[in-house]
Amino acid sequence: MTDRYAVIGNPIEQSKSPLIHMAFAQVSGQDMDYGKLLAPLGGFAASVDAFRAAGGKGMNVTAPFKLDAFAYATDLAPSAQMAGAVNAMKFEGERVYAENFDGVGLVRDVVHNLGCPLRGKRVLVLGAGGATRGALLPMLAEQPAELVIVNRTVAKAQALAELARQHQSGSAPVRGTGYDGLDGQAFDVVFNATSASLTAEMPPLPESAFAAGALAYELAYGKGLTPFLKLAQQAGVTRLHDGVGMLAEQAAEAFAWWRGVRPDTRGVIAQLTVPLV
Ligand code: ATR
Repeated sequence: MTDRYAVIGNPIEQSKSPLIHMAFAQVSGQDMDYGKLLAPLGGFAASVDAFRAAGGKGMNVTAPFKLDAFAYATDLAPSAQMAGAVNAMKFEGERVYAENFDGVGLVRDVVHNLGCPLRGKRVLVLGAGGATRGALLPMLAEQPAELVIVNRTVAKAQALAELARQHQSGSAPVRGTGYDGLDGQAFDVVFNATSASLTAEMPPLPESAFAAGALAYELAYGKGLTPFLKLAQQAGVTRLHDGVGMLAEQAAEAFAWWRGVRPDTRGVIAQLTVPLV
């Protein structure tokens, strides 16, 4: 029988996950089906129960259910615990194993696909919400020279920096600051993990935050040249990227976890890339 997977969310129509996973199944010769599941608000657990009862093997989880999935899981991986959210589940009998592959997918995209090692680099992350939380430990595992979290609400950046200090395996300096605390500092890699790009707003980031030769990475996908990327461009940055590779790489991590085979992501990334104009 063909193994069944799905992405669950509300809304769900926009999700690229079925396209990505079916492409992976094809390139790696896996017999599986991957669909979209629209769950009513407040109906996450019942929808997942029904999917499992029908033989479903695993799921990706998207908004607004990442915290519901966190509560639903029986076995939370450290990545999910640190992120405080779940984006992939695997079902085995009564067990619900849960992971969050967003952070590892992001780092893999930057380091492998974009050829930008984080080791020894000065790294700046904008925002102190869920996206940043999930990315911190995978970033720190690469041993950057420093990692600075900048946020509108400074206390949130400082709290996340403290959390990262407690949990990281290495010794990279991590600190949290407000935007006015960035004066005179330049960074080699700057990530926008705020939700500001979704509302076409721009965090008050000084152009001087981009070092010569810097790479600017917008975690959102498919929004073209966002205010953040425009600012980076004005500051002279030529290495501008959005989250298409992160999307593909987090999916590849889930696929490998479910199927035991890591698919090549290049075809999917080429297919989903939206020009940054
Ligand atoms: P997510 O889970 O997607 O990260 P979130 O937890 O709501 O979403 O976090 C959104 C982040 O974007 C926060 O760091 C938020 O800053 P505050 O903590 O100060 O609210 C940041 N953000 C949203 N809109 C912003 C804006 N216009 N300028 C600067 N930061 C913004």
